[in-house]
Amino acid sequence: MKTIDKNWTIEESSFNPARSGYYETIFNLSNGYMGIRGTRDCTSAICRKGTFLAGIYDKGDAQITEIVNCPSFINFRITVDDDPVELSGCSELSYRRCLDMKEALLYTDATITDHSGRKLGIKSTKAVSIADKRIAFFTLEITPVNFSGTIKVLSEIDGAASNYDRSGCREISHFNVLEGESDQGGTAVLQAETRDSKTRIAIAACMGLSGVCGPLCSSDVKKQGDIVVSEVAFTGEKGMTYTVDKVICVLHSLDPSGACTPEKAAEYACAGFKKGIGRLLREHKDVMALKWDMSDITIEGDCKAQAAIRYNILNLLMLGANVDGNVSIGAKGLHGEGYKGHIFWDTEIFVLPFYIYNEPETAKKLLLYRYNRLEAAKANARAGGYDGARFPWESADTGREATPDYFYPKEGEPIKCLTGDEEIHITADVAFGFYEYCRITADTGFLLKYCAEVLLETAKFWISRLEYDSGTGYYEIRSVIGPDEYHIHVNNNCYINYMARWNILKAEEIWEDLKNNYTMDFEAVCKKTGVDAEIITQWSEKASKILLRHSKEGILEQFDGYFLLKDHVIEKYNEKGIPVLPPGFKTDKDFWGYKLIKQADVVMLLHLFNDQFTEEQKKLNYEYYEKRTIHWSSLSPSIYSLMGVNVKVPAMAYSYFNVSANTDIEDNQSNTEDGIHAAAVGGTWQAMVLGFGGFRVKEGMIHLDPWLPREWNAISYKACWKGRTVCISVTKEHVKVKISGDNNTVYDVIIFNNPYTVKANTELEVRMHAVEEVIILGVDKY
Ligand code: BGC
Repeated sequence: MKTIDKNWTIEESSFNPARSGYYETIFNLSNGYMGIRGTRDCTSAICRKGTFLAGIYDKGDAQITEIVNCPSFINFRITVDDDPVELSGCSELSYRRCLDMKEALLYTDATITDHSGRKLGIKSTKAVSIADKRIAFFTLEITPVNFSGTIKVLSEIDGAASNYDRSGCREISHFNVLEGESDQGGTAVLQAETRDSKTRIAIAACMGLSGVCGPLCSSDVKKQGDIVVSEVAFTGEKGMTYTVDKVICVLHSLDPSGACTPEKAAEYACAGFKKGIGRLLREHKDVMALKWDMSDITIEGDCKAQAAIRYNILNLLMLGANVDGNVSIGAKGLHGEGYKGHIFWDTEIFVLPFYIYNEPETAKKLLLYRYNRLEAAKANARAGGYDGARFPWESADTGREATPDYFYPKEGEPIKCLTGDEEIHITADVAFGFYEYCRITADTGFLLKYCAEVLLETAKFWISRLEYDSGTGYYEIRSVIGPDEYHIHVNNNCYINYMARWNILKAEEIWEDLKNNYTMDFEAVCKKTGVDAEIITQWSEKASKILLRHSKEGILEQFDGYFLLKDHVIEKYNEKGIPVLPPGFKTDKDFWGYKLIKQADVVMLLHLFNDQFTEEQKKLNYEYYEKRTIHWSSLSPSIYSLMGVNVKVPAMAYSYFNVSANTDIEDNQSNTEDGIHAAAVGGTWQAMVLGFGGFRVKEGMIHLDPWLPREWNAISYKACWKGRTVCISVTKEHVKVKISGDNNTVYDVIIFNNPYTVKANTELEVRMHAVEEVIILGVDKY
């Protein structure tokens, strides 16, 4: 196996069947079109195989429509003289797997000695091509070290794959394998169709021994029920190394870029096989190198943080690679069945910023996924008796509400889900994502064509959702769940009221902008949405009277009555950095009477509307809520890290950064086996760039206010802004910034609150500011 660069690899250094599920998620490979779990080969110690195709959902007998666990195709088995090689049954085993993050390749290196003393070396490299979304491949090197004998490599397209339904503790198959030729001239082929949605999937695989043919080697394709097996058999001579390659092509009928037939899949797989693994690898690595060139973040002095930030970025690069306006990124990526592959606010508020600042085209496509479901969002609103568009709390293929009635945790009683009815902040979150994209990229075309309409339709929803209290003269938003899901049916959640008001006011502002500057687009959007001058006047009036509660000290009350709840200040943390709770706290209900909250709620608001709060307000609210947040959601630590930088509590910002960056690597939510935590992944990037990197865009201008934790010597990153690339490096001594553009262009930038000008393509260096640490917490976390 290649040498390990710890800054670029995640390693599994021994074989432990109990860790299967965790590693299957951690070693997932994906290209945004397909995702495959890192299931081990040559062993029955598997937690769950998983092959997911973005956008392919089905209801079938499941509780609710869910991402389909499709036929798997990347694993292999080996037999020696017809004895199966089983890793867990070997008398001696050296085993190592590593994910090379630079190249998005999964390597395995094992040497086994079986019961008869036969020693076999097995090395494999697996890839899901980032250069060609339909292609996945592996190459396998086998060495019979101390024997000669017949070696067979068997690899399946497994049409018996299924989803696991926790509600009924049963397997659910979401597709039927279709009749048809499974051996097309030595190429294995399987065609399937999902049960309800009738989406066609065609998978083909070419497998063969490189460089060897004739009587020494045979290859065969067999159908066993719903499984098509490719088999390569050869006589292995002691001490020789043999290489088996497999190239797979996956097509499906929702992909507008080509026909989905078994013949096409076979043709494609064969063409890939003929091209050769060497070229496939080169093409894949070249695209990865380009992606990393824009998105890499370096951290000097902290190898663990360096590898962790890269793991998070790698997953963002893989998951965003082929989004196309019809699919989005689910809360668990394409890594597992967790949350049924559904899409939450995680995408717009946590994940989207990475793409806005690194791959704006990808960001646009993620937003188009929502825009293309605007009609469904309008139907959601109508179904609840409201106007405008209401995006679903959980979204799948159609854009209708897909939140299940009950959530089935691994242990304990099912939990009734009210989030679909009450966690309505998603609508403003989506609108926020649309505007944020336009704000950073200055993409006026997108603003006119999509953003304006989305903002107006969502504003209509909020206006119809307001309730007037004639006693106080304020508009209220009642019976909701804020980001903190541990308090349900609350009135006037501060985050929601604030977001709703922003949504309405921003819609108004855009409406005025269009009216004054883009007449044709203005007329078109008014016609589409029915919003006219009279309506806008009413909106202004209502928005100004949306209730926003503060305490006398300036603390924002999370919802009506929150300050009256029983208090509990968090004082102890476990070894994973998660707060220890009062004795007896187990389920959501235990929190109802307490001020303890699940995740960043008011603090989330401080982040999104950073400029609208004073330093003092941010500090006070951070201090207050930090002591009461238990972070039982992976969405929380990144925001406390980012805001920790903002309110100048570096030790805390750093420790929250580590918790967030290692959410999956250290499995600190204890459910990584269900899939990665996409929001933590995106939130970690935000904590890094918008937090420590200090990058903000205010009124169209770049502001830099970076800050290095004691443990770091230097960081560097890039960001896209208005079509330019901004390169930033920060050491303990200086901040350097360079912005691309025409040579004559001069940019104004604000660094540590001081104005500078910088010529395009020229580096500006500014002395680093010593930042005074503010100690606001007496709690010793570690
Ligand atoms: C969090 C939500 C999040 C969802 C999906 C929940 O546990 O509370 O904020 O959207 O998980 O990640």
